[in-house]
Amino acid sequence: MKESPDKSKSKIESMFDDIAPAYDRLNHLFTLNIDIKWRKEIVKYIRKNNYSREVLLDLATGTGDLSRELLSLSPLKIYAADISRKMLDIQKIKVNSDRLILVRADAQSLPFDDEYFDIVTIGFGVRNFENTEISLREINRVLKKNGKLIILEMFRGEGFKTGLFNLYFGKVMPYIGNKISGSSAYSYLFRSVDTFLNVKEFTDLSSKCNFETDFLKNNFLGIVNTLYLTKKTDC
Ligand SMILES: C[S@@+](CC[C@H](N)C(=O)[O-])C[C@H]1O[C@@H](n2cnc3c(N)ncnc32)[C@H](O)[C@@H]1O
Repeated sequence: MKESPDKSKSKIESMFDDIAPAYDRLNHLFTLNIDIKWRKEIVKYIRKNNYSREVLLDLATGTGDLSRELLSLSPLKIYAADISRKMLDIQKIKVNSDRLILVRADAQSLPFDDEYFDIVTIGFGVRNFENTEISLREINRVLKKNGKLIILEMFRGEGFKTGLFNLYFGKVMPYIGNKISGSSAYSYLFRSVDTFLNVKEFTDLSSKCNFETDFLKNNFLGIVNTLYLTKKTDC
């Protein structure tokens, strides 16, 4: 078992503070903008399945690419929460809406009442949480009964195609990303995926934390997936 990188709150916070100014540019460059499509599909799915959507939480919201898409659903309020002040500062300039409330908060200890949200979304964030299980239980607490949790994430993959992908992700991206961002964050990025749960392990853990998997969308090689989960009522 490979050793997981340091995901302590202080380490993650300072790393994302450091890369905040370069984050959007590098993100879209490395995914050739496909990440934009993956976020838009979440909004389409919510609409198509007619999810209740008055109060939303976009957790690990970063610079706001997902919260901006969610605004098109016309919710009453969207809380956008993150531990990195500098990522939130960029979102404040980039996303302009009086329905959007920016909150500095850690996924393991959310400053919200029980059963407050209709939907919680997390785009490329859950992999960075210091303790996945504690965070999932905390998200469960703040969701309404039958509330939805939607996770877009890179999970650990296996097989030949994953090997090729790892070459790009483990060598090319860190070389370019570290140079442009001036930090070692892009080496962390590969290690955080390579040591994370695979998608089956993640859905098993979600089930233990009182979530049912409704739909799993494989976006890319079984590594990038969107998970649609519902808070179970009978536990
Ligand atoms: C890769 S960025 C993703 C940003 C955005 N959701 C997107 O789709 O582009 C991951 C974000 O997760 C945040 N984050 C990491 N650990 C967190 C935690 N424990 N609680 C809240 N936010 C966290 C980081 O600060 C960073 O802004």
